[in-house]
Amino acid sequence: MTAEEYRLKIEAALEQCFRVPEDMPQAGLAEAMRYSLLAGGKRIRPMLVLEFCRIAGGDMEKAMPVACAVEMLHTYSLIHDDLPCMDNDELRRGKPTNHVVYGECTATLAGDTLQAEAFGTILRSELPAERRAACAGVLADAVGLDGMCCGQYLDMLWEGRDLSEQELTDINSRKTGALLAAACRMGVAAAGGNQRMLDAAGHFGAAIGMAFQIRDDMLDVLSTEEKLGKPIGSDEQEHKNTYMVLLGKEGCEKTVRRLTQSAKDILREGFEDTAFLEQLADELSVRDR
Ligand code: IPE
Ligand code: IPE
Ligand code: MG
Ligand code: MG
Ligand code: MG
Repeated sequence: MTAEEYRLKIEAALEQCFRVPEDMPQAGLAEAMRYSLLAGGKRIRPMLVLEFCRIAGGDMEKAMPVACAVEMLHTYSLIHDDLPCMDNDELRRGKPTNHVVYGECTATLAGDTLQAEAFGTILRSELPAERRAACAGVLADAVGLDGMCCGQYLDMLWEGRDLSEQELTDINSRKTGALLAAACRMGVAAAGGNQRMLDAAGHFGAAIGMAFQIRDDMLDVLSTEEKLGKPIGSDEQEHKNTYMVLLGKEGCEKTVRRLTQSAKDILREGFEDTAFLEQLADELSVRDR
């Protein structure tokens, strides 16, 4: 399957989520959730779930709820990341941010609900019980106290002070790397893949995740709002520590290249049919949105 075919399948599955009748009291909450969920992200994480499921020998259709769950979780993280108390941004996925449209209370709750529903979506899926549990466990670890939330906490806690490269890596491996690595591992877990596959998938995801955040930091300086669909210069405004500050443009490019190559090498340790993922890693390393 091509990336575009994956994207269309994922969009169609997400479109079916949270369709609450208008006369239900929580219809407004569901509308806020769907507003951000269906705003057209790149869908990298669900794509990773599906492709890893495929190359681990699993049934992609059965993994679709797991793919949607990762995108719900990711969307929650974006809604909260944009809140005035966090990055205070007003544009996301080319549209006004959730809190700008629905207010801070509803935006906060839309994020909370997307997180809960992500786990529910996995646990209600038709996968065998032990695979559902494995996927939910991987996701919980990636988001929790040593995962994405920890990364977001450190990102805030260490604002405005000079960080070492190790400290910046500590932030970014959690705030971004953890969920990308989890998406890869969940694809394998949904397929019932072995430990060697799980390890290769996790290491691949962590490496492209680091490269992804470095590229994100670069684009925050070098891209345009129209291309990116989110504000330029947000990091500087919020006194964030970024790879652009630490390494400069050339240093970032070099590090992204190195991480992408190592991701591809790791992948071949666990899988044979790696062409799609290798190409995806290459494309992400030079993405402009
Ligand atoms: C943005 O993620 C937040 C980061 C982790 C850097 P994406 O760049 O995947 O955002 P969407 O999903 O395409 O909107
Ligand atoms: C946020 O990193 C990563 C998340 C966990 C959402 P950024 O704050 O750099 O992400 P963008 O640039 O707003 O998408
Ligand atoms: Mg942020
Ligand atoms: Mg942000
Ligand atoms: Mg950013």
